[in-house]
Amino acid sequence: MMRHMFAPLLALVLVAGAARAEDTLSPLTFQSQGPLGSIDIAAAQRGLAVYQGVCAGCHGLSAVHYRDLAGLGFSPDQIAALAPGGDANAAFGAGGAMGAPDLSDIVSQREAGTVYVYRLLTGFAPAPADVTLLPGRSYNTAYPGQQTAMPDVLHDNAVKYADGTPATSAQEAADVAEFLTWAAEPDLTARHQIGLRALIFFAFLSLVAFAALRSWTKTP
Ligand code: HEC
Repeated sequence: MMRHMFAPLLALVLVAGAARAEDTLSPLTFQSQGPLGSIDIAAAQRGLAVYQGVCAGCHGLSAVHYRDLAGLGFSPDQIAALAPGGDANAAFGAGGAMGAPDLSDIVSQREAGTVYVYRLLTGFAPAPADVTLLPGRSYNTAYPGQQTAMPDVLHDNAVKYADGTPATSAQEAADVAEFLTWAAEPDLTARHQIGLRALIFFAFLSLVAFAALRSWTKTP
């Protein structure tokens, strides 16, 4: 009977692994997705460059402080160089140009937020013939209702990446999506690691329980 406990556990471990492998967005992969996902530090660092170079003109990120960038692998000197006036305790700007929302938590606020941000940024297209755009709106395949007040802001080489990665518009979109995932949940990697450890611990615990039960039932 105890044996039946292992099947669901094993299934859980397998599903967790498979979910990670499946959550790839051809040709781009989001390392942060899936129950075992972790923030892709290199991508998030590039995404910071995209946010600062392109998005910050309109969007605030008021819940993120420059000192938080230590979590993305930046040294105190690098942080001081990035922060206005070298003040690591400063928050990123309040933004709000043209009614653009604060992006601190947008990835949590939207369903499948990481992928949604990517789809939104790469979803600008000419409006189909049967669609009349309202004044000042752009057609976007991902935005609810397909008309958004946000203009198409990404293009190839909109930023220059310090790590030499070619800055295609799709790469920029993926990187800023990973950066905003980190902004919304800086502890995602640690939380997933704790979850994995708990899973391993319970698997071990049920092994012990199984062995104990077997030895008891064998006793004459
Ligand atoms: C020129 C100003 C401007 C820039 C630059 C800009 N945005 Fe926006 N963005 C907006 C506006 C305005 C909205 C609100 C859209 C609406 O209400 O239709 C918006 C909305 C959004 C939303 C929310 C969509 C939703 O579901 O509500 C996201 C996510 C977003 N922008 C991401 C970005 C990212 C990432 C960048 C940088 C690559 C960026 N934006 C650059 C103006 C801008």
